[in-house]
Amino acid sequence: MSKRITITAALPYTNGPIHIGHLAGVYVPADIYARYLRLQGNDVAFICGSDEHGVPITIKAKKEGVTPQDVVDKYNAIIKQSFVDFGISFDNYSRTSAKVHHETASEFFKTLYDKGEFIEEVTEQLYDEEAKQFLADRFVIGTCPKCGNEESYGDQCEVCGTSHNATDLINPKSAITGATPALKETKHWFLPLDKHEAFLKEWILEGHKKDWKPNVYGQCKSWIDDGLRPRAVTRDLDWGIPVPVEGGEGKVLYVWFDAPIGYISATKEWAEREGKDWKPYWKDEDTKLVHFIGKDNIVFHCIIFPSMLKAEGSYILPENVPANEFLNLEGNKLSTSKNWAVWLHEYLEEFPEKQDVLRYALTANAPETKDNDFTWKDFQARNNNELVAIFGNFVNRVAVLTNKYYDGVVPQPNAFTQVDEDAMAAVKAYPSVIASSIERYRFREASQEFMNLARLGNKYLADEEPWKVIKEDEARVQTIMYVALQIASALAILSEPLLPFTSNRLKDILRASELESDWTWDAITEGRELLPASHKIIEKASLLFTKIEDKEVQAQLDKLEASKKANEAANKKVEPQKDTITFEDFTKLDIRVGTILEAEKMPKAKKLLVLKVDTGIDVRTIVSGIAESFSAEEVVGKKVTVLVNLAPRKLRGVESEGMILMTETPEGKLVFVNPDAHDAVSNGLSVS
Ligand code: 2FM
Ligand code: ZN
Repeated sequence: MSKRITITAALPYTNGPIHIGHLAGVYVPADIYARYLRLQGNDVAFICGSDEHGVPITIKAKKEGVTPQDVVDKYNAIIKQSFVDFGISFDNYSRTSAKVHHETASEFFKTLYDKGEFIEEVTEQLYDEEAKQFLADRFVIGTCPKCGNEESYGDQCEVCGTSHNATDLINPKSAITGATPALKETKHWFLPLDKHEAFLKEWILEGHKKDWKPNVYGQCKSWIDDGLRPRAVTRDLDWGIPVPVEGGEGKVLYVWFDAPIGYISATKEWAEREGKDWKPYWKDEDTKLVHFIGKDNIVFHCIIFPSMLKAEGSYILPENVPANEFLNLEGNKLSTSKNWAVWLHEYLEEFPEKQDVLRYALTANAPETKDNDFTWKDFQARNNNELVAIFGNFVNRVAVLTNKYYDGVVPQPNAFTQVDEDAMAAVKAYPSVIASSIERYRFREASQEFMNLARLGNKYLADEEPWKVIKEDEARVQTIMYVALQIASALAILSEPLLPFTSNRLKDILRASELESDWTWDAITEGRELLPASHKIIEKASLLFTKIEDKEVQAQLDKLEASKKANEAANKKVEPQKDTITFEDFTKLDIRVGTILEAEKMPKAKKLLVLKVDTGIDVRTIVSGIAESFSAEEVVGKKVTVLVNLAPRKLRGVESEGMILMTETPEGKLVFVNPDAHDAVSNGLSVS
């Protein structure tokens, strides 16, 4: 039965491009879900847009010396294009800077205000005297009261995930000037979450214990059990939606108040464009509302937004919030600021036309129940061993053999053997198996079931060996190829939600658009003929997937390594200058030019080389901590600068009599203070 379903995907912040973590956590699963439901004939509104308010955007603008509007215009365009490129099939992708959104959010606030749903309170907020402004949450950095993370933001600790008020931080500092902020009075409006506690308990803790994912339910429960408190929904800031009531001058709506209302505004914008009524998508009890988000958004979508909707009174509540955990990259947390990411726009430059490969790899390894790791090796394996070797190989064989034996015309089958019957019966079961996985938000499982169907096709051909049978039994081969073509058709239909580009290409190969029969999931389940005899498929089919070579993977790993190095160099703290010494102190140092005669690695010590150095006075042993930067072979014969009167000391049982002088380049590279080099003086030392 057809249903109305409103699907929302978290509105991405518009302060940077999006990466694979976003795609894996939110947008690919949401897109699979939306595409699947549309294919079943449902009335779907798949909604998203740019989240263009919030302090990080103003911080970025300040840093780059541009306006916040410049920042959001730039990234809105990039993000929107990435979604198009990866086939994310939003019905509408809007922006929270849109007029319709400003109006909708203002109106929503005013309704709650008029209904007396807010508490108005003058509180003391952190104020930066130097910058002459109140500090919004993200402008305050300090120690998290829960886990001790010293770089927690004012509103949320990214280490332990706790959400708090900026005044809860220990040792708060202004992110603008670094000054310690002072408390100053200001008026704000608060949503009394405590007032909604009873409803939230009943609705989530009793109503959704079974159907919400354990990670989502668990986070909600812990929030509710901790006791809910009023949350400020306005901020002292000049970037955002102005507070539309008396006393709100100079203040804006908190970004987490306006952003989720963005789903409603985006629906309105879409409905207007399509000549539809937006209201049933948000107000009809028969509509199913589902929010796709990452785990850091759970509290906002399960506690705060539902409380807002409930307080307003005329809206439906989400039926499910299938939040994912996080995706890591090669063992480390994805990070925009550290450039530890695979950016979607860059991926497409390097792997053009491989959108589906990424969709597949991310889904097969999706962080559905725990954080997961994306590795380029796994990506390569998913492509080469599954998409190429199983799915692509099967389709290619079918297309090539159909052309070779029958000039591309689907042959008339003869009597089915038990093997054929079994294969066809197995194929019939797949739509409901995959559907059930998707409906339970188990997209990994769905992707693997899909691959199992391709595996079945591949095995069928490998077992039946039409290329051998053709020599003795042409009639049998007609049946084999007919069955294989039906399986290829089922793959074309069932791949649509997960691999939309491939699905289209496969449909082109099979020339599905020239068929009269309807290619639905039900048609497969009911065992209807998908490709009739005498239908002609394409003559020269190109490969659905191509192999990814080791060197392509290595190039990606090298790129990450380079970004790690650049980041380390950028973050390297310059050591402050040490206390001044007197000239007398300096003259105590006896520095000579020496030559390294021998060198060997100190056993079981990563950093140490044992050197024999001719100092001009004598030949002596010096143990030097340079083994991570130089090999023993490369230092032999080198002229070096040696501090010869350093008191001898034992290192790993070897007495070291002196020190080789080294220094570091600004990039952090260890270099010799080399008497032969022209820049010995510019290294900061003069040798006499
Ligand atoms: O975490 C984020 O990227 C937020 N911009 C998500 C907002 S979702 C919604 F409420 F709009
Ligand atoms: Zn913390």
